[in-house]
Amino acid sequence: MADQPTSGEYRTGHDPRTLRDALGCFATGVTVVTCVSEDGTPAGLTVNSFTSLSLDPPLLLVCLAKYAASAGSLTAASHFAVNVLQTHQQPASIRFSTRDEDRFGTTPWSCGEAGAPILKDSLGVFECRRHAVHDGGDHHILIGEVVKASFDASLDPLLYFRGRYRRLHFD
Ligand SMILES: Cc1cc2nc3c(=O)[nH]c(=O)nc-3n(C[C@H](O)[C@H](O)[C@H](O)COP(=O)(O)O)c2cc1C
Repeated sequence: MADQPTSGEYRTGHDPRTLRDALGCFATGVTVVTCVSEDGTPAGLTVNSFTSLSLDPPLLLVCLAKYAASAGSLTAASHFAVNVLQTHQQPASIRFSTRDEDRFGTTPWSCGEAGAPILKDSLGVFECRRHAVHDGGDHHILIGEVVKASFDASLDPLLYFRGRYRRLHFD
């Protein structure tokens, strides 16, 4: 992968690549968001636009590109799950962000209580009921009400920063 520029400046109308580079300076975790499609097949994609939204009521949101093949299933599903990935799930993150991969055939998963697929050994899982879908430019903003959350605090998170996977590093 080519080295990213160390600095840059974006203004309205400029090359969106520079805006992406600027946004990539915000370090995030990595999730896989899943649901069951209307035809009964599992759907899901890698997402780092995950944000906690409200504690009372318990809400979270993810942003889904309108062009993503799984966006239709996820915005239509009554329930979805946000699987927060740990370091050893980097292959799953790659699989769920790559076209023409057998995403669920090669990733161990099971059905959550609300029906959405739960990836085995995830650091955290949020099972949600669809609360709202808002327009967000070229993305949908999918808001979920958390009906169940579970986590394994002994695991380290998979991180994403400036276009690359990272791990926590403590001095
Ligand atoms: C680290 C990472 C984070 C991503 N975050 C998002 C995101 O927040 N929203 C989104 O729509 N796509 C995101 N993507 C891109 C999708 O995972 C990718 O386009 C995927 O192939 C879409 O699958 P689909 O077209 O089968 O739905 C991300 C990709 C990576 C590698």
